[in-house]
Formats: sequence, structure tokens, C-alpha cells
Amino acid sequence: YYDKGSKGALIVAKSDTRHSNGKKLFTSIITILGRLDGGFGGEDAPSQAFVFPDRKPDFEVDALPSPDQPLIYRLSGDIFQLHVDPQFARMAGFEKPIMHGLCTYGFACRALMKSLIPNVPEKVRRIACRFSQALYPGEPIRTLIWKTQEGKSLWKTINAKSGEVVIDRGIFEYGDPHPVDIRFDGRVAIVTGAGGGLGREYALELARRGARVLVNDYGGFRDGSGGGSREMADRVVGEIRAMGGEAAASYDSVSTLEGGRNIVKAAIDAFGRVDILINNAGILRDRSFGKMEFEDWEGVIGVHLHGAFNVTQPAFRVMRELGYGRILFTISAAGLYGNFGQVNYSAAKMGLVGMMNALKLEGEKYNIMVNAVAPIAATRLTSDILPPDMQDKMKPEYVSPIVVFLCSDECRNSGNIYNAGMGFYNRVALMTGPGAVIGGKENTPSAENVSMNIDKILNIADAKEYKNLTDMATDFMSAYQQKPDRKDVLTDKGLKNARAVF
Ligand code: NAI
Repeated sequence: YYDKGSKGALIVAKSDTRHSNGKKLFTSIITILGRLDGGFGGEDAPSQAFVFPDRKPDFEVDALPSPDQPLIYRLSGDIFQLHVDPQFARMAGFEKPIMHGLCTYGFACRALMKSLIPNVPEKVRRIACRFSQALYPGEPIRTLIWKTQEGKSLWKTINAKSGEVVIDRGIFEYGDPHPVDIRFDGRVAIVTGAGGGLGREYALELARRGARVLVNDYGGFRDGSGGGSREMADRVVGEIRAMGGEAAASYDSVSTLEGGRNIVKAAIDAFGRVDILINNAGILRDRSFGKMEFEDWEGVIGVHLHGAFNVTQPAFRVMRELGYGRILFTISAAGLYGNFGQVNYSAAKMGLVGMMNALKLEGEKYNIMVNAVAPIAATRLTSDILPPDMQDKMKPEYVSPIVVFLCSDECRNSGNIYNAGMGFYNRVALMTGPGAVIGGKENTPSAENVSMNIDKILNIADAKEYKNLTDMATDFMSAYQQKPDRKDVLTDKGLKNARAVF
């Protein structure tokens, strides 16, 4: 709010519009003058110099809005009487209903595009103006355009009959879209298991882009054994500092509650906040299920699932206070699709999917986005699993771009799972089939009814993705209200006949 004294109060409001996929489309800034609201003792608005070139315009585009133009708006849902009701218009001090300012603006915008970027409307970068006079429908208008520099023009729209300026101080900028620059200046990231493999790459890339990074690594062996070492985390901290970045080391294991707390505390002590957490630490203890010892189960669940809880909870509490957070869980195709000899690992990784599904809802109102990535990369973990000739093409660098994106302000989607590796990325979704109603209030279904309808129950065509349990339960409840399809339910008589057949 700016105080313009006797002229009133200037109210400036800004909003961002995003595509449903989260991509920002445009920012809209609207300025309103509250004529009676000035003199409240606030700051005056900064003055903005604006001078049209002292020469003939480069383009002049004429248009004639039709006399019934505002009625089209009326029929499209606009109910403001000022544009349709003569009596109301007179009450507001006008001779008759006036044009919608945004309609005149639409004419001006089309004139600008036609003159400067014909047939490529996506090149519009910015359009700004000030509405200065009302216009009556049916009056001819002219948009005057001055090219002032490459990619920028100044413009105004006048009433072509009276010469009165209807829209003033117009700015129009155009050109190729600016590539998004993903930066993390001012942000603090924790990467667990960042002493090698994928975690190291994430830490380096975040630091290159301005984040201050807490590099955590316990420094044990691939199966989690060994007493730990400081060397791995220290080396990566050294690499970040050598390229001019900021990093601190943490050597705690994620697998204890205390370790998790220490990791978050170390980030706060070093940098004062936590904006990003990548749960990446991991071990493997592969065995076929029959041979699996409880220690193999417990150890793997301990690092991946308990580890994620231990670090995420204290980090989440900090993020909630900040009203900002990006949390990533590292999962695996082994859990998503199944892999021989990895019952423990698969269970732990899918536990993280459940954790993400619930946490995304709790983080929503604090702008905390929670996502999961299933990477595929040649690292210490996969050195004897992946074919040697593939290893060069499977560098962690091919996974980190999506991880970096999901940790950034650009990421506006929460609760998604991505596969990532070799520069290939896709989304994995949990889909729910349309199913079949084979029981209801009147008839309790039997196992035989299920058997008869198993193809329908298994059918996944026209499947749906639910974003939370409530949405799914709503569909379930409405299915219960539906009458079952008669042929899907066997009557006692039908059942007897069916038994006879089988
Ligand atoms: P990696 O073995 O190179 O890195 C894992 C890091 O975690 C190691 O530096 C290790 O010292 C550290 N770590 C292990 N236990 C820890 C603990 N308790 N506390 C702190 N740090 C600990 O392996 P990679 O491949 O980089 O794995 C990273 C993540 O990606 C893991 O969660 C893994 O399960 C997952 N993943 C990797 C795949 C791949 O193709 N490389 C495939 C699917 C998932």
C-alpha cells in the first residue's frame, strides 16, 4: 500500500499463475487507486518516469469495437451492470454503458502482436499499461506503437474520433523465453550418504548452484558394516570448497534417532536453517528370502526406512517453521517392480513411498514438497550388478538433474515418484482400476461372486490416480450406492447351477 495523500492510496497486488503441472506461466501485477484511502501515513510510491518518443509512431493500428461488444461479456458470465445497464451507467456518471477496460486492452494486445511478433504470440514477455479514460462501445480506437529497442516497444491506445488517450503508458516486451535458471542461493541442503556415488553428485551440483550443503556420510562398507570413517564426507566437503562453494561435514549414521537429530543440528549450527533434505544414504544386504537372516532385514530397514524417519522428522519441524521445504526420498525399482534377492531392500524402499504419500499431505500447507526418485546409476552399490560396458553411460550425473529440479523452487508438485537414469526420466504412478460392484446393501457378495468377476476386478484399463485416501474412499462409497449389475451377482439358484457346471 502506498500513500498518495489527497490523491488516495495505491494498492499493488501480485499473483503468479501456474499450469496444473506446476510450471509458472505468468505473473500478474495489478495496481488500484483507492481515491478516498490516502493520508494514512504510509510511504509514497516510487515515481516512474515515462516518456513517449518525440516522433511518429512506428505502427498505428485501427480497430472498431462493435456497439454491442460488452453484451458478449455479459453473455459470457460478466454480471457488472456498468457495462449493460444504461440507468446504472448514468448513476456512475457516464452517458451510457462503457466498454470493459480489458476488452480495449485485448484490442491493443492483438495490435501489438500483429505489428511486432506476427503469428508467434508465445513471444510476449511483458505487457503493462495504465487505463486512463472510459470508452463507449462502438467508438473507433487506434493503438500507437513506438519501437524503442530490440524486444521492447512503448504504446498507447486513443479514441480515434476524439483523440483522447484511453490506455496510457503502455510497455510491451517480447522475445524468446528466458531459460529458467535454477539457483539455490540462500538455501541450505542436507544430503545423507553424500560421501560417494549419487549423494556426492547431488551435493556437488547443489553447491555449484549456490546452496550451502551439509555433506553427511557414515563412511562404512557397502553392507553397512565397518566402524565408519570421516574420510568420505571430508573429501566431498573439500571438493565443494575447492570450487568456491560452502559445505560442512557430518559423520553420523542415519540409522539412529540420535544420529538423525545430530545431522539436522549440524546443518543448523553451520548454516542456520534447512530448506532441502535428500534422504539418500543406503546399504545393500542381498540374500534370497529363505536364507535371509533377521540382521539382513533389520539392517537394511534400519538405514533406509528408519534412517529416513530419523532425519526427516527433525528437518520437517524446521521446514514447517520456515514455511518452505523440499524433501526427497531415494527409492528403488527393486521395490517398485520387484527384484530377486532383495526382499528387505524392496520392503524398505516401498515403506518410503507410503511415508511420502502421507507426508506430502502434512507438508502441503507449509509449502513443503515431498517426492521420491528411483535412480539407476553405476556406483559402489551397483558395481557388481550392472554390466561393465553400461557403466560409463550410467553416471550419477544423469540422475542428478531431476533431483536438483525437485529440490528447487521450480518444483511445485508433491507426492510423485520418478525413475531416473542415463538421462531418461519418467513418472511412476499408483493406479486404481474401475473395478466391479458385486455386492451392496441388499446382497452380501460371496467368494464365488468374486471368482466370476475376477477379470473385471483385475481390469486396469480406465484406471485412476488418487492423490489421497479421501478421494479414493469417496469413489468407494459411491460404488456402494450403485446397484450391482444383475449378471455380476449369482443368486442361490444360479450358484447351484454354476457349481454343477464346475
Ligand atoms: P553408494 O554406496 O555409492 O552411496 C551410499 C552412501 O550412503 C555411501 O557413501 C555410504 O557410506 C552412505 N551410508 C550408508 N549407510 C549410511 C548411514 N547409516 N548413515 C549415513 N550414510 C550412510 O550408493 P548409491 O548408488 O550412490 O546409492 C544412493 C542411494 O540410491 C541409496 O539409497 C540406494 O539405495 C539408492 N539406489 C541406487 C541405485 C543405483 O543404481 N545406484 C538404484 C536404486 C536405488
